[in-house]
Amino acid sequence: MTIEKEVAEYVAKTRQSKALHEEAVAVMPGGNSRTTTFFDPYPFYLQRGQGAHVWDADGIDRLDFNGNYTSLILGHAPPEVVKAVQEAATQGLSFPGPTEHEIRLAELLTRRIPSLESVRFTNSGTEATMNAVRVARAFTGRPKIAKFEGAYHGTHDWALVSVSPDPRTAGGRRRPKPVAASAGVPPAVLKHVVVLPWNDAEACEQIIEKEAASLAGVLVDPLLGVGGILPPVAGFLERLRAVTERHGIVLIFDEVISFRVGEGGAQQRFGIRPDLTTLGKIIGGGLPVGAFGGRADILGAYDPRKGGARISHGGTFNANPLTMAAGVATLNALTPEAYGRLDALGERLRGGVTRLLEGTRRKGQVTGLGSLFCLHWTTGALTDYRSSRPKDPGAPMRVFMGLLNEGILLTQRGMGACSLPMTDQDVDRFVNALARVLARE
Ligand SMILES: Cc1ncc(COP(=O)(O)O)c(C=O)c1O
Repeated sequence: MTIEKEVAEYVAKTRQSKALHEEAVAVMPGGNSRTTTFFDPYPFYLQRGQGAHVWDADGIDRLDFNGNYTSLILGHAPPEVVKAVQEAATQGLSFPGPTEHEIRLAELLTRRIPSLESVRFTNSGTEATMNAVRVARAFTGRPKIAKFEGAYHGTHDWALVSVSPDPRTAGGRRRPKPVAASAGVPPAVLKHVVVLPWNDAEACEQIIEKEAASLAGVLVDPLLGVGGILPPVAGFLERLRAVTERHGIVLIFDEVISFRVGEGGAQQRFGIRPDLTTLGKIIGGGLPVGAFGGRADILGAYDPRKGGARISHGGTFNANPLTMAAGVATLNALTPEAYGRLDALGERLRGGVTRLLEGTRRKGQVTGLGSLFCLHWTTGALTDYRSSRPKDPGAPMRVFMGLLNEGILLTQRGMGACSLPMTDQDVDRFVNALARVLARE
């Protein structure tokens, strides 16, 4: 089926969403507040979520492998989290001061992640990476920050560089050039962001060594999540750790997505101790959240006692009690058994998709780790951002739309996540739906 036919089927089924979108357009640019979730001709409007399912304004039930972009590890409206939020809410929605909930979530996180000696909360992953970059600069006294080509770290200026650049404008594969990922990112930012090629330790070492004297930190998503869930090759993170340590550069793991792969996140799975870690998504149990933390000597810049803070970090809703209570309830539900189950679901899905793609000789593959996965529409070795770019750029959207019409929700780029309430049958349903979508093409 062509994309036009998939869209026509979608439009025919989603009249209420279309009507809501028309109302939205009158009061918001394109009817939208969240670029990520928009797709043409209009997104469907969500009304309800329960377990692994969501229902839209037209009453359509979809099996949700998007999970609010990997945030909802326990699925929609898990009773223990809803109860914790309701209890917290009855005591007051937010306060001009700290609550005990904040301490409890900080304790849970620092216990699970040994490198997190100290932690602070924000309202988004964007604010977490923004603060991690700032404190790395404050600690080292150096101006530049390095990030990987294809990596997404949120929507502040320092992160909006080389997120999904056209390789024709982005320099050589082993020496990528910084490219603004948005209008409005000033040239001064590009001068202070160094771009690294994922999984090429040799090239990264050379660039980092050359820039070391002015490099405050290296920001690393250890799974290159939004870039396609491309886990690091053996030894890659070790070499990044060694070169940053040699030069006193702050190694920042952005675990906003990857924390969900295990009790101690990707750093535990890969056995690396970063200097700083940023968190978000699952740690807020479905409510707005972010956190950053790590070495106590680095975090000391925020210590306000006796007027000593070197970095001011306000935030009307930082560590608000509802988010903190939801986070505590979520982490408490994430037992070793829960991670075992999530891993098994992820493996079943990746195995099923791989067999399907081999059987149909379709030019595709699936990557992932734990409950995370990403569909790729290319057959070459997947090592970095450039190798993961689809040969047929329309393929991810055709598959996304096709799956929507099959009652399955993924992300537009093909990244997805299994959630705890899913069953083996749910995972098989995904694979069978994908088979039908590909057969229509
Ligand atoms: C690795 C990573 N860092 C940071 C962010 C930004 O988080 P938020 O959307 O909460 O600002 C994201 C969001 O997808 C992410 O995937």
